[in-house]
Amino acid sequence: MRKIKKSRPTARTASLKNPAAASRAHSDQRILDAEKFLLPTYKRQPIVFTHGRGCYVFDSSGKKYLDFLGGIAVNGLGHAHQRIVKTVRREVARAIHLSNLFHNAYQGPLARKLAEWSGMDRVFFANSGTEAIDGALKLARLHARPEGLAASAVAPKHRILAMENSFHGRTFGAVSVTATEKYRLPFAPVVPGVEFVRFNDVADLESKFDDTVCAVILETIQGEGGIHPASEAFWNRARALATQYGALLIADEIQCGLGRTGRYFAYQKFSSKPDIVLVAKPLAAGLPLGAILASEAVAARVSPGVHGTTFGGGPLICAAALEFLKTVEDSKLLVNIRDRGAELRKGLETLAAKFDFIREVRGEGLILGVELSIDGAPLVASALQQGLLINCTHDFTIRLLPPFIVSQAQVRDFLRVFETVLAEAAKISSLAKVSGAAPTSQHAHAAAR
Ligand SMILES: Cc1ncc(COP(=O)(O)O)c(C=O)c1O
Repeated sequence: MRKIKKSRPTARTASLKNPAAASRAHSDQRILDAEKFLLPTYKRQPIVFTHGRGCYVFDSSGKKYLDFLGGIAVNGLGHAHQRIVKTVRREVARAIHLSNLFHNAYQGPLARKLAEWSGMDRVFFANSGTEAIDGALKLARLHARPEGLAASAVAPKHRILAMENSFHGRTFGAVSVTATEKYRLPFAPVVPGVEFVRFNDVADLESKFDDTVCAVILETIQGEGGIHPASEAFWNRARALATQYGALLIADEIQCGLGRTGRYFAYQKFSSKPDIVLVAKPLAAGLPLGAILASEAVAARVSPGVHGTTFGGGPLICAAALEFLKTVEDSKLLVNIRDRGAELRKGLETLAAKFDFIREVRGEGLILGVELSIDGAPLVASALQQGLLINCTHDFTIRLLPPFIVSQAQVRDFLRVFETVLAEAAKISSLAKVSGAAPTSQHAHAAAR
């Protein structure tokens, strides 16, 4: 399985050089249907992926890709993992959905395991990351609301401090605490009472904190923002101020949590815990599941009817999630994440010494960012052509989120192919410098979005 098959041109990359191949892909009815009938919320590559095995995915022409994107941090166990396939097959024949008006066989045990992993006390299951975020914001407002306050009155303690450069999702609550303006401003007025703090700027945090704050929310490692970890000083100060003012510290670990850093949670490298932890992406091994993990103090204000969901925590999905967590434990994947992550990082640092447009390598375990001084999109397109799935976030940061099961050989394969991608970019960049043109082609740029 090691060898990455020599690439056949994909439609979009082919369109740069081979209009005939491009038109073949554009006559694929599945792509035509998608282009005609889907809301155009994504600039999708004209590739139809049909299946995956381990750390590889395959497109409809049979081309094989090494997956270092992992469904954007979802596929912790890669694709078609035997334990997940077996569990889902078994459970789908038993009960896909029951109802939260009754217990099912897996929701309680899954909550127990998440509590053990995180050190939190209580769990609420949602259907996505953004829904977990919205639920957490509601819990923060509820926690801070004086008991007995008139139902229509706004609690004085209602402000939420969020971070600049953050991303928390697409629902109204989540966009309200997402700093990136293009995700938030088109939907104004968003949820009121949110103020942004410069990430890792202790003085800015201190200047905005007072007893009207009910919560401070941060990604322990900012993902979409370009893989920026929270500093220990910032975390400690956020924890101390939240405690001092009776506010909640909310850690969004939707992208970086559940093992990806080589610890169960990224905040476990610090000496203190948050009050609420949010998880989603890899939780149910590719099935949609998010969760709010909360302290007993937060749970104390919750009563039946205050929050809920129809689908969250169904038996099929919770069985898959429990199997995911047990597989991480049984297969000692945290060790693999740390070891492969260290090899990957070392290899990237060697490449950074060779290519002067690599500015920095950031992250931990298997959440790594390679910040470039040139546009990253053409590199993503070139990698795709060479059978490698990666992603670029914030225009200049190549983001790597491989499955937790990635092997040493696959890390080596990645570094080999990535080096050829970088060498190609270096050639284009130096040609552009000689001719005085922009260092990236508009075409390639569009192709990778
Ligand atoms: C840190 C973080 N929070 C929240 C979300 C939203 O999660 P979802 O897309 O499952 O709603 C994401 C998604 O990328 C994320 O990376």
